[in-house]
Amino acid sequence: MKSELDIKKEMCEIGRRVYDRGMVASNDGNFSVKLNDNEYLCTPTGVSKGFMTPEYICKVDGEGNVLEANEGFRPSSEIKMHMRVYKERLDVNAVVHAHPMYATTFAIAGIPLEEPIMPEAVIALGSVPIAKYGTPSTVEVPDSIAEFLSRYDAVLLENHGALTYSDSLLNAYHKMESLEFYARLLYQAKMLGGPQILSQERVEQLYDIRRQMGLTGRHPGIDK
Ligand code: 13P
Repeated sequence: MKSELDIKKEMCEIGRRVYDRGMVASNDGNFSVKLNDNEYLCTPTGVSKGFMTPEYICKVDGEGNVLEANEGFRPSSEIKMHMRVYKERLDVNAVVHAHPMYATTFAIAGIPLEEPIMPEAVIALGSVPIAKYGTPSTVEVPDSIAEFLSRYDAVLLENHGALTYSDSLLNAYHKMESLEFYARLLYQAKMLGGPQILSQERVEQLYDIRRQMGLTGRHPGIDK
């Protein structure tokens, strides 16, 4: 089993990847990891997630109250959004919030990612809905995502960014990468006159592959 320090180091590494891949600007984005029902590690508010060291990471309880934080650090302002995911999804152990360029562009345009255009995106995500705009840091954001949590592992936040979650931090981060790659392909295909859409029969074949792979999490094409 990973030690708390190992998990904090992993959070710093994921922060570097999110920042280096341009999935956030400046101090944006946040992520959290569940240790147990009463303890969660989360990124601090107002720092670049690309330059964190383990002392930056805060610990909160199931309501988002501070349990541990080094001087100068407070939990993410979006901790309520993370806590709603853990409350509704007992299979989730990590949550990632970022503002990747293409996914956020769709969120700002109010266009959900629905076209089946490539096998990996169909298998990993299916479609990606948009949760209604809420003011960041308020309960409006957790309330807006609530309706999607039981069927989706990736949600766009209207005029804001994207949210992914999974059974591990690496898997939650990978979902963010897959979401951004899908959004970028869809955007670029639209620029070339529009994507070719996979037929329903082809999509069903991909759902079958997902079932055979035994992937964790939820999928809108399979979890009706
Ligand atoms: P925090 O630094 O408070 O986590 O907020 C960053 C962010 O992206 C808010 O949406």
